[in-house]
Amino acid sequence: METRTASADDAEGMGQVLREIIEHTGRQRPHDASFVMGRYIADSTSIRCTVAVDGSGNIVGFQSLKKAVAGNPYDTPEGWGIIGTHISPKVHRQGVGKLLFSATREAARQAGLEKIDAYIGADNPSGLKYYNAMGFRTYRTPEGIVQKVCDL
Ligand SMILES: CC(C)(COP(=O)(O)OP(=O)(O)OC[C@H]1O[C@@H](n2cnc3c(N)ncnc32)[C@H](O)[C@@H]1OP(=O)(O)O)[C@@H](O)C(=O)NCCC(=O)NCCS
Repeated sequence: METRTASADDAEGMGQVLREIIEHTGRQRPHDASFVMGRYIADSTSIRCTVAVDGSGNIVGFQSLKKAVAGNPYDTPEGWGIIGTHISPKVHRQGVGKLLFSATREAARQAGLEKIDAYIGADNPSGLKYYNAMGFRTYRTPEGIVQKVCDL
């Protein structure tokens, strides 16, 4: 397993990861390659989007790090990082999330961020436990959501 910065060529593989998560959770969300390009790879606020690639060259997960700008959809304070993590259920609990966060944390430090926000569904126990394990703590709880922050 290795990580690298996502490029346009990864959009299809990243969309496949989203489809596998949808199949697993039953929760619909956009997942085609053009959505992935706009939302993760080519977003103007992106600091780094990192993909995890298995030994056969398949993308098994990705993690995006963006800079919070005024009016962002999560109401994250301006200047913080915003993280999002998407890993195929085929490889859950094998350390992929941990590997991705070591790359993201490094990118955040290089970008001079002091804090990273994670916006998690309150009904997503694995997401909550994952971010706890990565050193995030809850700082606010809008309805149905838990927002956690990591101090760098
Ligand atoms: C949450 C998610 C990112 C975790 O990724 P992962 O690759 O399985 O995580 P890792 O294997 O690196 O786990 C790191 C640590 O997180 C914690 N953790 C992760 N998943 C967990 C779970 N289901 N239950 C309990 N602890 C968990 C553990 O402490 C784990 O360390 P350990 O396995 O040594 O005990 C992954 O399940 C996922 O992408 N889910 C779908 C999308 C999602 O929920 N995204 C995040 C919230 S928006």
